[in-house]
Amino acid sequence: MTAPSENEEDQPSVTVYPDGPLILRGGIVVKDVNGVVLSSGQVVALCRCGRSATKPFCDSSHKRGVLDSGQAQNLSSK
Ligand code: FES
Repeated sequence: MTAPSENEEDQPSVTVYPDGPLILRGGIVVKDVNGVVLSSGQVVALCRCGRSATKPFCDSSHKRGVLDSGQAQNLSSK
């Protein structure tokens, strides 16, 4: 893994945490299918384990165990 350049640090980014959430950094607005804003800010953690009680956001429930879907494997193999 290489360190991001100065320009890359200014860009919106998504970081995939092993057995954890997707961390979105940048000017992030999360909306539901009707366009209702659920959250906005510079950092958002989205659940990808399916255990969060606050979906689509991570509530750290993933720490109770490993991901039980193929999502992590599929994301990391691309
Ligand atoms: S990834 Fe954190 S609760 Fe699902």
